[in-house]
Amino acid sequence: MVVHDSLLARLHDKTLVVEAAKVGTRWVYNATDGQRFDVHNPSTGVILASLPALSAGDARKAIADAKKAQLSWVKKTGKDRAAHLMRWHRLWIDNADDLATILTAEQGKPFTEARGEILYGAAYLEWFAEEAKRIYGDVIPAHVENARILVLKQAIGVVAAITPWNFPNAMIARKVAPALAVGCAMVAKPAAETPLSTLALAVLADRAGIPDGLFSVITARSGAEFGREVTSNPDVSKITFTGSTEVGRILMRQGAEQIKKLGLELGGNAPFIVFDDADLDSAVEGAILAKFRNAGQTCVCANRIYVQSSIHDAFVAKFVTRVRNLKVGDGFEPDTVIGPLINRSSVAKVQDHIEDAIKQGAVLLTGGSPDGGTHFVEPTVIIGACASMKVATEETFGPLAPIFRFDDVDEVIELANSSEFGLSGYFYAKDMARIFKVAEALEVGIVGVNTGLISTEVAPFGGVKQSGLGREGSRYGADDYLEIKYICLGGQSA
Ligand code: SIN
Repeated sequence: MVVHDSLLARLHDKTLVVEAAKVGTRWVYNATDGQRFDVHNPSTGVILASLPALSAGDARKAIADAKKAQLSWVKKTGKDRAAHLMRWHRLWIDNADDLATILTAEQGKPFTEARGEILYGAAYLEWFAEEAKRIYGDVIPAHVENARILVLKQAIGVVAAITPWNFPNAMIARKVAPALAVGCAMVAKPAAETPLSTLALAVLADRAGIPDGLFSVITARSGAEFGREVTSNPDVSKITFTGSTEVGRILMRQGAEQIKKLGLELGGNAPFIVFDDADLDSAVEGAILAKFRNAGQTCVCANRIYVQSSIHDAFVAKFVTRVRNLKVGDGFEPDTVIGPLINRSSVAKVQDHIEDAIKQGAVLLTGGSPDGGTHFVEPTVIIGACASMKVATEETFGPLAPIFRFDDVDEVIELANSSEFGLSGYFYAKDMARIFKVAEALEVGIVGVNTGLISTEVAPFGGVKQSGLGREGSRYGADDYLEIKYICLGGQSA
């Protein structure tokens, strides 16, 4: 297979698209058994490229190479590791247009949004390159005379990463950046729908002089075989996964035998609450952003919009007007705001949520008519949503905005918290006492108050309840790749 012209023609540097996997120190063009899989453009359905469908044996080889590479990498100074990461960062920025083109082609999101994601991903690299020099330990006053207590923070070792298709650049960025910064090596398995973005980063890693073996990218049709290998391979010290709660549970079960350390960024079902003292125009803009970014395919998407009764109709009128103006289309068309969903089963899930809500009495105000056979779904608003509907309990992962009505603060806190998920929550209000009460009461890891955008490399991203374990980004994000060791030095002078 040759990379499709529709992609190549848009690239300044055509060598960024590779039909190969990076297995340890080598680029592998063919699987031993000859198996391959195709990568599609979800807007047009064309096959963009074909990649080797690798096996557990390839992952094992990458892990062995990673183990060797990590032993030298961890000995380098933080400053040296930082310099490597900053060279990679420079190339990431210099090639931002091409990286965004590859991302839009395989994932579908509008080009401007894809470019935003490339810069968001690069920011993790810069942030953790800076942190590489600041992995401080501690000295603790000893418990006995003649002793000293030192606390070291040491790189955990080889890390396996499994990343999703919704943010093919930023999700690997926020794992590989802290891992390499503190002295770990990484073997990554990107989603089969969007591997080209991660492979392009591996090409740039080579150019930046990131040592061979330190960052592998295993291409495979499904994550199951890779998951089994990394949960059972004793040379993998940690697994970091972004994806569904269902798969997170499987990894936990499989990793239990070796007490495998896990970082899990799983599903969400974010409440978005609009109180009666909110600035309605900014609440509408916040809801548009929190709901429709990436066509509703983010773990932090507003899934349930709760609006206080006294302002319900005014909010709905403004919101629906905005939603009707969101242009759906191919991500390369300049005015597209909502791209396609990743596959037909995502489309079917949104359809199912709409139909279920309407059957139970919700009213459709706009959208709701997925375009037969394509991956495009019109942004949809329904009112009269209630707790028994699928939209209340399941993550829709698409451009459907269900609006629920509520009367008072305690009622909405209870409704918002009635979910097994706890990744993010949003609300709009002005009263400070209310702001603190609600922010503290929401059972989530991330709260957006008077904002619909909470993603940044400088803050800790992660959830509570069944939304996961650990935090990514910020100074806390480095901790996930470090072990704490304490040294008790006896025989010292008192
Ligand atoms: C996600 O959907 O998992 C991440 C979204 C983000 O970083 O904003």
